[in-house]
Amino acid sequence: TVMKNISGLRNMEKQLEEVLGVSKVVIVSGDSDQYATVKNEMGLACVKEIERALGAINIIAVTGGSTLAAVAEMMHPLRKAHQDLLFVSARGGLGERVENQANTICAKMAEKAEGRYHLLHVPDQLSDESYHSLMEEPSIHRVLQHVHRATIIVHGIGDAKTMAIRRHSGEEILKRVDTEHAVAEAFGYFFDQTGRVIHKVQTIGLQWEDLFGAHSVIAVAGGKSKAEAIQAYCKKGPDSVLITDEGAAQEILKNF
Ligand code: BG6
Repeated sequence: TVMKNISGLRNMEKQLEEVLGVSKVVIVSGDSDQYATVKNEMGLACVKEIERALGAINIIAVTGGSTLAAVAEMMHPLRKAHQDLLFVSARGGLGERVENQANTICAKMAEKAEGRYHLLHVPDQLSDESYHSLMEEPSIHRVLQHVHRATIIVHGIGDAKTMAIRRHSGEEILKRVDTEHAVAEAFGYFFDQTGRVIHKVQTIGLQWEDLFGAHSVIAVAGGKSKAEAIQAYCKKGPDSVLITDEGAAQEILKNF
């Protein structure tokens, strides 16, 4: 029956690749909404994908979130001879628990992978004024150069409402999430069902264009509750490797 389950997952991966239009899907068994250990399985699958994507020079930009925290948890030494590994935070500090912040995750990943790291020591959401002055700060500018030249980007995908609340978004944003039917969130961008961006947090971190410059984008998100978010994000997102779980996969495939 184990073999049967595995071939069942492989079938689902192929179907998901087709319906989501992404070139590679990896599904781990279980539903991370129900069992926390499933997140670690996604984390491990993600580490394998990062390893596969490595070249001679690697700038790996990472976002925050509990799923990315699981990737850091499962990280192991990656560096082979002549490979340079630089991890950079794709986002500044958020109104998130410290273990879920990009900086914490980035430092932990780099340490476990035996690479170097650069952190983004700025608040994530900025006023116009601080946005412009921080952009001119040389130390920040340097880190941002790395983010914009990332060769590998690893990010989570969240449910729009959950993320808006978790990030303590203002009344106006919460309202727009409702009225404009946002269903997905990724690195500060909110998307509706068609993949249209309905709101973007003013952040100096990772920008939408950066995703199309990287040679590898790995999205990690699972759980039945994220099915709609994953689907919406994939509508307009770059061609990525999607690491997900059976819970999300089954829910997405139900509609086809
Ligand atoms: C964030 C990422 O911090 O984690 C987002 O920047 C993502 O892209 C979110 O939506 C997902 O969080 P979690 O805890 O569900 O993995």
